[in-house]
Amino acid sequence: MKRERRYAGTKEAAETMDFQYYTPTRVVFGRKSEEQVGALVRAQGCKKALVHFGGGSARRSGLLETVERSLAAAGVEFTELGGAQPNPRLGLVRQGVELCRAEGVDFILAVGGGSVIDSAKAIGYGAANEGDVWDFYNFVRAPKACLPVGAVLTIAAAGSEMSDSSVITNEDGWVKRGYSNDLCRPKFAVMDPELTMTLPEYQTMCGCADILMHTMERYFGREAPMGLTICMAEALMRSVMENARVLLAAPDDYEARAQVMWAGSLSHNGLTGCGGDGGDWATHKLEHELGGLFDVAHGAGLTALWGSWARYVYREEPARFARFAEKVLGVAPQESEEATALAGIEAMEAFYRAIRMPTTLAELGVQPTDAQIEEMAEKCSVTARGALGKFRPLGKADMAAIYRAAR
Ligand code: NZQ
Ligand code: ZN
Repeated sequence: MKRERRYAGTKEAAETMDFQYYTPTRVVFGRKSEEQVGALVRAQGCKKALVHFGGGSARRSGLLETVERSLAAAGVEFTELGGAQPNPRLGLVRQGVELCRAEGVDFILAVGGGSVIDSAKAIGYGAANEGDVWDFYNFVRAPKACLPVGAVLTIAAAGSEMSDSSVITNEDGWVKRGYSNDLCRPKFAVMDPELTMTLPEYQTMCGCADILMHTMERYFGREAPMGLTICMAEALMRSVMENARVLLAAPDDYEARAQVMWAGSLSHNGLTGCGGDGGDWATHKLEHELGGLFDVAHGAGLTALWGSWARYVYREEPARFARFAEKVLGVAPQESEEATALAGIEAMEAFYRAIRMPTTLAELGVQPTDAQIEEMAEKCSVTARGALGKFRPLGKADMAAIYRAAR
């Protein structure tokens, strides 16, 4: 690992290991934990809550009814806004902001997955600040506040229930942008692993892929995180892979659901990056453009791109990829670090195929034209505001080459 070779025991090592770890979210984890939501919202001291949800799964499963019964029993007044869709849209966010202002909402309860929680966070920014909420995602200005947000999580994936970020798609130009700020970190996250058992297999596996990727992005920063973090990251990734395989065969396995759900939060609340440089995030940013233009599921977009990114960059530091191959994927050391690194990339792609995730854009069902590839690379370089990623900083031509190699 680069840190061990270059920095071990030096003042520089100490400095690159400095970090802040801020996780203000109360986690309420376990069977039927959703029945506590009324008391949790009540404890926030709010006057009126907005219950925000998605396209219907929460209503169909009866969860919404349970949540609203719990709110009523705790004496919490609320109003509803459904319809947040995967790759949540700015249009609904603006509608939510108006609703909050009109109804005097001072707390947002997201009932759903990353898309609903991200939409709730955006509504929270919009309602707590003057002007247009897109300004924050467009990096024009920074919000001063965010309405408090709580989450009842129904899919283990994005990690938004503890993260500082929110990703929104602007229908005007189909631009998908993430914005990160501690202000939006949820006050609480209610996690009942049983709620994830109604997920279709595809969404469960997309979730596992995204969880893995949140730790992989941090693992492949310019500098690796500190040794303890690396070991925790490797254990987390092995656990998610093992439990994803269990869930393929037994989607109702509570223990596997529980481990994946907790991994989803730990993978994106900062823990697996402590003592590192923040991570690479190129695969994520490249995927966000795919999601914006083609409306694909985020986790599947990531697996379709990752191999192409990895092959494009691994020569920067084959030892990092070789360690990943050995410790996470159980690959035996080959004749050289490079060979082990490549065998690891292949093993990761074999895992993706085993959980029925795509490893190319064609398998994802997307066939971008050359012009669309240029468009995504252009938009991505605007979002990156400079070179993209840290492991090997990428320019626009590199991004286009990675998209092309993924076809
Ligand atoms: O809308 P409903 O009907 O609820 O259906 C959803 C949706 O179709 C369904 N679903 C969720 N829970 C279910 C269920 N179906 C049956 N039973 C349940 N228990 O699953 C579909 C996907 O839901 P979504 O919320 O879109 O999934 P996910 O949590 O993967 O969120 C994806 C979004 O999060 C963003 C992604 O870019 C994408 O827009 N991300 C957010 C991050 C963050 N805020 O920190 C980080 C991530 O890297 C990611 O970018
Ligand atoms: Zn992600």
